[in-house]
Amino acid sequence: MKIGIIGGTGKEGRGLALRWSAAGHEVTLASRDAERGASVAAELSASSGRAISGGGFDDALATAEVLLVAVPYTGQGDTYRQLAGRIGDRIVIDITVPLAPPKVTQVSLPLGHSAALEAQAILGDEGKLVATLHHVSSTHLGDLEHEMEGDVLVCGNDRAAVETVIGLIGDLGARGIDAGNLVNAVALESMTPVLLYINRRYKAAGAGMKLTGLP
Ligand SMILES: NC(=O)c1ccc[n+]([C@@H]2O[C@H](COP(=O)([O-])OP(=O)(O)OC[C@H]3O[C@@H](n4cnc5c(N)ncnc54)[C@H](OP(=O)(O)O)[C@@H]3O)[C@@H](O)[C@H]2O)c1
Repeated sequence: MKIGIIGGTGKEGRGLALRWSAAGHEVTLASRDAERGASVAAELSASSGRAISGGGFDDALATAEVLLVAVPYTGQGDTYRQLAGRIGDRIVIDITVPLAPPKVTQVSLPLGHSAALEAQAILGDEGKLVATLHHVSSTHLGDLEHEMEGDVLVCGNDRAAVETVIGLIGDLGARGIDAGNLVNAVALESMTPVLLYINRRYKAAGAGMKLTGLP
């Protein structure tokens, strides 16, 4: 699959690019600065031995079948406003956690209830928005020797889009679980500050989630 990662030059985007390219996907990293996108992609290609493309938002929009937005919450609204009108019916994966530094270990709900719902409000009927990966640490993603052991909750209003993303989560080495409609992103995004608290409390490096009782 052709996957464009907006903000792919960052911590989470780099790890996703490495894992998805290792699984055979064609990844394009997109930066606000096309030169930076190309340079980070060249760096990752050299270190991984996999071809990863990079450039500006236009490069990702030109080729990607699926888009993933991996920017901090502070820049999320502006990023979606730049993408709006250019997405069509593509799947857009949103992984934003609306953290409120410096209190990143406390739940902070945005005015629109969740970052994913705010993104949906900007996009309107455009695209199929799917929210996921809020509990997956960039440290683990970026270390290909690390076995992805947790469950990854996936929510969205289009069930076929959710299934496609569950497949992509599987390609990262984790188990994706359908967690219902996009409104449930409120719960998923809220859990991350709790995990960050647990990381700090127990000196863990990227605590994740694992469900019990599933068939
Ligand atoms: N890091 C994690 O472990 C983790 C885990 C789960 C979810 N997340 C979520 O994933 C998203 C990305 O996290 P990250 O740690 O990868 O972030 P990051 O490294 O701080 O930033 C990612 C990229 O976003 C772009 N960016 C930075 N500030 C921006 C702004 N104000 N407006 C628009 N773009 C901006 C930058 O790309 P360019 O300068 O190249 O455009 C940057 O490389 C966040 O919403 C975070 O909550 C992160």
